[in-house]
Amino acid sequence: MSYRAAVLPEEYRVAGEDKLAGRILARKKELGERLLILTHHYQRVEIVRFGDEVGDSYGLAKIASRSPKAEYIVFCGVRFMAEAADILGRPGQKVFLPNATAGCPMADMAPSEKVYNAWDDIEERIGKGRTVPISYMNSSAELKAFTGMNGGLICTSSNADAAFKWSYERFEKLFFFPDQHLGRNTAKKFGIPKDEIALYDPRQPSGGIDDARLEKARVILWYGLCHVHAKFRPDHIDQWRAKDPSVRIVVHPECEEEVVDRADAVGSTAFIVNYVESAPAGSTIAIGTELNLIHRLALTHKDKNIYELSGDTCPMCSNMFRTTLADLCFTLENPDKGELVVVPNEIKRDAKTALERMLHIGK
Ligand code: 13P
Ligand code: SF4
Repeated sequence: MSYRAAVLPEEYRVAGEDKLAGRILARKKELGERLLILTHHYQRVEIVRFGDEVGDSYGLAKIASRSPKAEYIVFCGVRFMAEAADILGRPGQKVFLPNATAGCPMADMAPSEKVYNAWDDIEERIGKGRTVPISYMNSSAELKAFTGMNGGLICTSSNADAAFKWSYERFEKLFFFPDQHLGRNTAKKFGIPKDEIALYDPRQPSGGIDDARLEKARVILWYGLCHVHAKFRPDHIDQWRAKDPSVRIVVHPECEEEVVDRADAVGSTAFIVNYVESAPAGSTIAIGTELNLIHRLALTHKDKNIYELSGDTCPMCSNMFRTTLADLCFTLENPDKGELVVVPNEIKRDAKTALERMLHIGK
């Protein structure tokens, strides 16, 4: 990984917010339709302001696949999202990640080699052709290619249900990575009992799953998780309910099962935004997701009482927070020096197959 864009020239580091904002606007005007700025919902408020589109990982991937006019796509998000845009974009389009160090620790919990080894182990023990890989969007481009090559598809938290349905119509078992919680929460919706869900931990021999359990499993989950969403606990919900029985609780499916079970609603980032938008004025809503999004929802819905569910765990994605106005301004003014995200062609082809299967099934 290059860290070039993280060490910005002095003039960008010392420029104030107003100056940077003015320069960003000027560059946007100059480039017009040649430029598309995509911003994920977890970005800082001041970054979201400059997005041509703001969305969740599914929505932004879809937009990236349908924006042929843009010459430059500047993806204010994390690396796997920019990679997906490069895979889905038209040839010749350039995708930039304004801060080269913005990664996803959950995606990093699934190093390609370890997942390939687990797959070989599973197929060796239960036989080929019975299992299909489903990769959560939060994964490397290599794993997306692996998924495409092995007949599987990508999903996000917006369409995990549809991905499970698609997969069970074709295969007996699912190998879901990297997020164990999204996988478990979705399996539960499909009525899969606990003893048919196995957790593959690559740090243990045979993933910590014996042959009988593997044979019985309908879902094999990778052990990854999001440390931001893992901060929410069932007792946070109990405390809210005791304090205010009228509270509505909405959480992201990357939260653990016991949290999801106690919430009033669960859904992707876009679902949460929509939940808040459609709630009546005066509602009190406690949200279990990333802090910057909650902060922005509170700012934009002053007629509602919006709270972060835990109250004290600071569920902020520091990787999403890395992208600053200075990074964005630098990238727009220096496209030759910005962090260009290029997925090699040999990976792109199969990764695109897996992503297109996802776009094809929709939500
Ligand atoms: P969405 O797919 O809901 O955008 O979430 C992405 C993510 O990284 C959640 O932690
Ligand atoms: Fe990754 Fe969690 Fe950050 Fe999402 S919130 S980008 S899953 S670390």
